[in-house]
Amino acid sequence: MVHTVEWQQGVIRLLDQSRLPEHVEFLQCSTVDAVVSAIRELKVRGAPAIGVTAAMGVALGAGTSGAEQYETFAREVNSICDRLAATRPTAVNLFWAIERMKRKLSECRAMNIPDIKSALFQESQSILDEDIELCKAMGRHGAQLIKDGQTVLTHCNAGALATAGYGTALGVIRAAWEQGKRIEVIADETRPVLQGARLTAWELMQDNIPVTLITDNMAGAMMRQGRIDLCVVGADRIAANGDVANKIGTYSVSVLAKAHGIPFYVAAPYSTIDLKTASGEDITIEQRNPLEVTSIHGSHPVAPQGVKVYNPAFDVTPAANIVGIITERGIFKPSELSRHFAR
Ligand code: MRU
Repeated sequence: MVHTVEWQQGVIRLLDQSRLPEHVEFLQCSTVDAVVSAIRELKVRGAPAIGVTAAMGVALGAGTSGAEQYETFAREVNSICDRLAATRPTAVNLFWAIERMKRKLSECRAMNIPDIKSALFQESQSILDEDIELCKAMGRHGAQLIKDGQTVLTHCNAGALATAGYGTALGVIRAAWEQGKRIEVIADETRPVLQGARLTAWELMQDNIPVTLITDNMAGAMMRQGRIDLCVVGADRIAANGDVANKIGTYSVSVLAKAHGIPFYVAAPYSTIDLKTASGEDITIEQRNPLEVTSIHGSHPVAPQGVKVYNPAFDVTPAANIVGIITERGIFKPSELSRHFAR
């Protein structure tokens, strides 16, 4: 299993996902600025992975503080949190992880600064370790939905690369595969940034899990031909009513699945469930650089210069299109989430 993000001798080591699959390269982030850029530029991406990385960024920045008094130290750490929180608006895991680090900071108020620094470092490592465990638990629950011989369609990358390891939607697929089920994965390429083609296909091939890559506009035809048994995707934020924000194109897949009577599932940990947001309409959708649409990899133009572009990174799938949400606590109907995850 790939190591998306980890601590290595006091610096954050990230697999640079913007370079995959051609180059398997690692970034060493030793400053908060480097972490902020890595998240913004999708060098690390996927809701749980950016949450974990931001928590590590808080610990990294806190570790370099020269402050001797708690108040000064806390002010510095809170400003690091603000910078990290401003990187991407949609995935709630980012804000969840930053809040958890702030909570740890205030719990440690009575301790000396060096001890608070190591408590923050430890908390970031716990968030990372916990994320892998959550994914494995989701895998155990979700694998029962996939029968031997079935074909599963997924969108974007909700795999080990999008988490601290193992994956959410791909974790479910990976668990079914580890149980010995013969399965086939259909990966949507996921324009404009091609997380399906560049990342999901690569990740599954690393593990020898059979995968076939399609362009996004092929999913409907395959469903009509009876070649898809199940859809499983990840999530960036799940609202209290069960609406799900995920990579742009997820909504289209859910509509197609519903039209063809194919079960559509979402896999996500509790850190993606945002009960403070009432419905999908209240979720801020990140708008990204038009270059992602007008070019491949920012360098090969595929559209006339100056064309007007609309480039939302995410869309909202209404709860009504989702058969179930696979979590570490079990599989729930979207309408049951608020009862099971009330804090
Ligand atoms: O823009 P990205 O690549 O960060 O978007 C990622 C997704 O939409 C994933 O499907 C989602 O974060 C779930 S990851 C387990």
